[in-house]
Amino acid sequence: MRLATIFSIAATLSAGVTADIYLGFNSGATFDNEVVKKQADFEKEFKLAQQLQGSPGTFNSIRLYTNVQGGTQDTPIEAFPAAISTQTKLLLGIWCSGTTSIDNELKALTEAITQYGKNFTDLVVGLSVGSEDMYRVSVDGVANKAGVGQDASTIVGFIQNARDKLKNTALSGIPVGHVDTWSTWTNESNKEVIDKVDFVGTNLFPYYESDKQNDFSNASYLFHSAINATEKAAGDKPVWITETGWPTTGPDFGEAKASTDNAQGYWSTVGCSLFGKRNTWWYVLQDSNPANKAKFGITKDFSTTAQYNLTCSAESGAPSSGNNSTGGSGNGGSGNGTTGNGNSGGGNKQSAGYVTPVSWGHSVALFLSMVLAAAAWLA
Ligand SMILES: *[C@@H]1O[C@H](CO)[C@@H](O)[C@H](O)[C@H]1NC(C)=O
Ligand SMILES: *[C@@H]1O[C@H](CO)[C@@H](O)[C@H](O)[C@H]1NC(C)=O
Ligand SMILES: *[C@@H]1O[C@H](CO)[C@@H](O)[C@H](O)[C@H]1NC(C)=O
Ligand SMILES: *[C@@H]1O[C@H](CO)[C@@H](O)[C@H](O)[C@H]1NC(C)=O
Ligand SMILES: *[C@@H]1O[C@H](CO)[C@@H](O)[C@H](O)[C@H]1NC(C)=O
Ligand SMILES: *[C@@H]1O[C@H](CO)[C@@H](O)[C@H](O)[C@H]1NC(C)=O
Ligand SMILES: *[C@@H]1O[C@H](CO)[C@@H](O)[C@H](O)[C@H]1NC(C)=O
Ligand SMILES: *[C@@H]1O[C@H](CO)[C@@H](O)[C@H](O)[C@H]1NC(C)=O
Repeated sequence: MRLATIFSIAATLSAGVTADIYLGFNSGATFDNEVVKKQADFEKEFKLAQQLQGSPGTFNSIRLYTNVQGGTQDTPIEAFPAAISTQTKLLLGIWCSGTTSIDNELKALTEAITQYGKNFTDLVVGLSVGSEDMYRVSVDGVANKAGVGQDASTIVGFIQNARDKLKNTALSGIPVGHVDTWSTWTNESNKEVIDKVDFVGTNLFPYYESDKQNDFSNASYLFHSAINATEKAAGDKPVWITETGWPTTGPDFGEAKASTDNAQGYWSTVGCSLFGKRNTWWYVLQDSNPANKAKFGITKDFSTTAQYNLTCSAESGAPSSGNNSTGGSGNGGSGNGTTGNGNSGGGNKQSAGYVTPVSWGHSVALFLSMVLAAAAWLA
C-alpha cells in the first residue's frame, strides 16, 4: 500500500513535471491590409495552424496582443470564440502602450470569462501584460522611432492591476508575464518587471541585429546567445519564446538578407531545435502589418502548404510530422479573409505607437512595435 501510494505520488509528480509544451503562432488583430479579423477569420486561421502540411507537431496555441476586438472600446476579441471552436490554447495579451489605464482590456477579459466560462478559461495558458513597451522607450527604440512605449514601473503597476482584477475569477491561477525584446530583459533598469512576473516572454530576431555579424550563417549562434543572456537575466523565472522567425522577403538589415531559403533555414535550425521542447509562438503564420516591409508569414492565402518545407529532420528531436497528405486541397479555404467589412466598426481606430519607419538602420526589432501596434486598438 505504502509503495502504491509512493508510486501514485511519483506518477502525479512526473505528470506535473511533463507539463504541456506550447507550440503555436502569433496572431494580430488585423490582416496585412489592416482589415479587422472577425470570428470566422480567426477560426480559419486557427484551423490552418493545426492543419499545416508536414508540420512538426500540432500548432494549436495562439498568442494574442489584445483582449479587445478591433474597432471597439472594450468588446472581447472574436479570437476567443474562435479558439473555443477550434480548441486552440491562448496566450492572452494586454495592449499597454499609449494609455494610462488597462481597464478596457481587463473589462473585455472579465466579460469573456463571464460569457464563455470554462470553455474559454480552460484554454488560457497565460497572460502577457504588454508587448515590447520597454523596448520602445529604450535608446534603441527611441532611435528607431519605434513609437509610444511604457517604462518598467508602469508595466509593474499594470501587472498588479491585472492580478487584482483576475483574483476572484477562474483565471486567478494563470501565469502572468510580460513580453519584450531580449535586450530589454538584459537591461538591468527593467529588473523590477522580472521580479513581478511569473514568466518572461522574449522576442528574438537575429535578422534585425544589424549591430552584430548577422549574416544568416550566424543566425543560430545569435539566437542562442540572446536566449542564454535572457535566461541569465531572468534568474529562476521561466523564459517563453514569444516571437522568433526570419522573413521570406524584405530589406537587408546589416548582413541579414530576407529570402525563402533563409526563412526555411531558420525554421529548420532554430525552430526545429525549439518545437516540442520549449514554449514557442513562431512569428508568424500570416503577416498582419502592411507598414512592415519584411514579410514573415509562412503561408499565403490560407494555404495549408507553407512556402517552404516545414518538416524537421529526425535528428533535431522535434515532433515528427503529421498531415503529410497532399490531397489536392492545399487551400484551407476560399478567399483571403478580407471579405468582411472589418473596418465598419469605425470608432476608435487608432494604432498605438504606429510609426512610419524612417530609419531602418539599427538593431533589434524596430518593426515589432509596428506589427504589434497594428494589432492593438485603443479606446
Ligand atoms: C460550452 O461548450 C458547450 C459544448 O460546446 C456548450 O454546450 C455550452 O453552452 C458552452 N458554455 C458556454 C458558457 O458558452
Ligand atoms: C535600459 O533601460 C532604460 C530604462 O528604460 C533606458 O532608458 C535605457 O535606454 C536602456 N538601455 C539600453 C541600452 O537600451
Ligand atoms: C557571430 O556573431 C558574433 C557577434 O557579432 C561574432 O562575435 C561572431 O564572430 C560571429 N560569427 C560568425 C561565424 O560570423
Ligand atoms: C548557450 O548556452 C548553452 C547551455 O549552457 C551552451 O551550450 C551554448 O553554447 C550557449 N550558446 C551560445 C551561443 O552562447
Ligand atoms: C521535407 O523535408 C523532409 C525532411 O528533410 C523530407 O523528408 C521531405 O521529403 C521534404 N518534403 C518535401 C515535399 O520536399
Ligand atoms: C510525414 O512525413 C515525415 C517525413 O517525410 C515522416 O517522418 C512522418 O512519419 C510522416 N507522418 C505521417 C503521419 O505519415
Ligand atoms: C493534422 O491536422 C489535424 C486537423 O486536420 C489536427 O487535428 C492534427 O493535430 C494535425 N496533426 C499534426 C501532427 O500536425
Ligand atoms: C482577397 O480579397 C480581396 C478583397 O476581397 C480580393 O479582391 C482578392 O481577389 C482576394 N484574393 C484571393 C486570393 O482570394
